[in-house]
Amino acid sequence: MRLILFGPPGAGKGTQAARLQDIFGIQQLSTGDMLRMASKGSTPLCAEIAAVMQSGALVSDAIMVAMIKERIAQADCQKGFILDGFPRTREQAIALDVMLKEQGIKLDKVLEIRVDEQAVVARVAGRYSCAQCGHGYHDDFKKPAVADVCDNCGHTIFVRRADDNAETVKARLQAYAKQTEPVLPYYKEQGILVTVDGLQAIDTVTETIVVSIQKHP
Ligand code: AP5
Repeated sequence: MRLILFGPPGAGKGTQAARLQDIFGIQQLSTGDMLRMASKGSTPLCAEIAAVMQSGALVSDAIMVAMIKERIAQADCQKGFILDGFPRTREQAIALDVMLKEQGIKLDKVLEIRVDEQAVVARVAGRYSCAQCGHGYHDDFKKPAVADVCDNCGHTIFVRRADDNAETVKARLQAYAKQTEPVLPYYKEQGILVTVDGLQAIDTVTETIVVSIQKHP
């Protein structure tokens, strides 16, 4: 099964992709995570990626398409995958279709997680994660069971993403509205777009997505 999770920053793409990975046994591919990893290197390209992400703009289509092409060809993606954060432009969507066609496979569903700007800002502003295992938390919605101790690994140091500040979140929302949201009709025309209310509780969003996949496989 090949799925795309669509939605603005903080819509819950990463949260839902991790759950769908467990439910369906297919690989989550987060381009944001891949880029954060790549940006830690010491080459000029790594520095360029870090600067673009920090500004809230999109990394170039050429880099993103090459990254995804290489990743989906790997063994752990042969059973299927969930694209979390890709495509984000019409050019990326078209390039994805070409590479899937070359492999003789097709997309099953594109799931748009729809939320409003107010919810997104609250979610992103309060988000942090364990510095050791990456387990995610939120100041208001998901605190560790024991204050300042990671539920998952017991570590006591937490980090916040560099692009989760008010100014960059505004730029990320603008990039979504201008470059990414206009891709949705491309998938609507193909009859594979499903829109889910992302303002529901996390478990309810997961159930809605799973039902929609099982109802219209
Ligand atoms: P990326 O890392 O993909 O960031 P994003 O799209 O801005 O999305 P987020 O990770 O912020 O949010 P999410 O939707 O995954 O929400 P989450 O589940 O974490 O991209 C970062 C940057 O990389 C981009 O700005 C760009 O520069 C670059 N980039 C990446 N892909 C690219 C591409 N294809 N082309 C070009 N550039 C690219 O949830 C957020 C919070 O809300 C969490 O705390 C969570 O616990 C909470 N939450 C989730 N769901 C709910 C719910 N239903 N109710 C209450 N709380 C919830």
